[in-house]
Amino acid sequence: MRPLGLELDYPLIQSPMAGVQDIELAVAVTAAGGLGSLPAAMLSSSQLDQSLSQFRQRLNGPINVNFFCHRSPQEDQRFSPTWLSALQPFFDEFEIDSASIASGAERRPFSDEACEVLEHYRPEVVSFHFGLPRAELVDRVHGMGSLIAVTATTVEEARWLQAHGADLIIAQGLEAGGHRGHFLSSGLTQQLPMEELLHQCLGAIDLPVIAAGGIGDSKQVKRCFDIGASAVQVGTAFLLCDEATTSDVHRRALTADAGEKTCITNVFSGRPARGIVNRAIQALGPMSAVAPAFPQAATAITALRQKCEAQDSGDFSPLWSGQNTRGCEAVAASEIVRRLMESNH
Ligand SMILES: Cc1cc2nc3c(=O)[nH]c(=O)nc-3n(C[C@H](O)[C@H](O)[C@H](O)COP(=O)(O)O)c2cc1C
Repeated sequence: MRPLGLELDYPLIQSPMAGVQDIELAVAVTAAGGLGSLPAAMLSSSQLDQSLSQFRQRLNGPINVNFFCHRSPQEDQRFSPTWLSALQPFFDEFEIDSASIASGAERRPFSDEACEVLEHYRPEVVSFHFGLPRAELVDRVHGMGSLIAVTATTVEEARWLQAHGADLIIAQGLEAGGHRGHFLSSGLTQQLPMEELLHQCLGAIDLPVIAAGGIGDSKQVKRCFDIGASAVQVGTAFLLCDEATTSDVHRRALTADAGEKTCITNVFSGRPARGIVNRAIQALGPMSAVAPAFPQAATAITALRQKCEAQDSGDFSPLWSGQNTRGCEAVAASEIVRRLMESNH
């Protein structure tokens, strides 16, 4: 097994999960001997600064800070007429005036500003989804001594990342919950289940490879290590745990039978992501040709989400989840770490 280059009791990385966690989950997982992650895609620089300061005060242990590397669309398509007319029947049903919709929380790509905050805290790992930032920022992250971990959804992406400065490759199988991390090709049909992708990446590159997607029990963790993974990255299994901020509608969906039925959809953000099938996906997707480009699709549909969640319904919420919800349990994160890693170290 290729060494990860990090001092961890357990080679388990908690997936950074924007929207369902803050620093509490990261603290709990690092304290339990894994690597806790902070998703920073939706944080302002001052929120990032505050979160990292809290982490460092609470714990003397490693952290992974995660960013998106998308290119923001040039045009403002948030209120494109075709998208608004697809949503109009639901705006009518829930009595929403589309002219009054606010722009809402943004998803920002990694920037000089964010890098400046990181330089103060020097996180042990900085991870990126949707490719890498420009070379100068990659150099700055290396300059602070952080390892760079990046998602690859195909073996071509893994090779590209090795050639452009990644230190660790996160092989994200098709089973994974949340956004697909692809950046070279958007062809979902070329993407592979996790174990196959892991095999292919290990054969094609020399970097340590981290297995991600659908890992929910200790036997699956063992299989990943047997294949040659240097670590596992697990998200969905933490969604019900005490330290996650997962909403009530999301928690309910994960525990219902519906939790077993997920698909890849672009209707919530404009980029393909795996979530539990709900009314929004059935009515508008799963892949909509008129959804605005990432991240702009999120703006208008969030108005429906908020209205429905106020009525205790997840019909228009992004219920991100991997294909395997069997590992989800409403217990402390340390217990999830223990269950996944028992007999694996
Ligand atoms: C609720 C949720 C939110 C996610 N948000 C992010 C994110 O902000 N950044 C990121 O790199 N990956 C994100 N992911 C994807 C994970 O990095 C990882 O690929 C996935 O959790 C692995 O599959 P699993 O959920 O089946 O364990 C998210 C996944 C989930 C389930």
